[in-house]
Amino acid sequence: MAWFQSIPAADVHTQGAVGVEVDGLRIALFSLDGDIHATGNICTHAFALLTDGHVENGCVECPLHQGLFDIRTGKAQGTPVTKDIATYAVDIRDGQVWVDTD
Ligand code: FES
Repeated sequence: MAWFQSIPAADVHTQGAVGVEVDGLRIALFSLDGDIHATGNICTHAFALLTDGHVENGCVECPLHQGLFDIRTGKAQGTPVTKDIATYAVDIRDGQVWVDTD
C-alpha cells in the first residue's frame, strides 16, 4: 500500500470531478452520491483528460470521442473504449482525500 494525500474532500464534492497528480500519476477524483472515487484520469483510447468530460449515471464520458467508463469499477462501457481505466482506493482523513496508488 502507498497512500498519498491529495486535496480536501470538500473541493471534490463542490466541483464533482477534479484532476490531481499523486505519486506521479494523473488521477481523477469524482464525487458520486456522497462518496469520492479515484480513477486514472487519462482515457485509454487516446489522450484525453476524463475530468474534462461529462459525468452522468455513475459514468464519465470522455470529452474527445465520448467513450464511457464506469467510475466505480473503471470498466470501459463499449466502443470506442475497450480498455478499462485504473481505479484506486480512497480514504478520507481529517477532511483530506488520500489515495492508495498500489
Ligand atoms: Fe477518449 Fe477517444 S480519447 S474516447
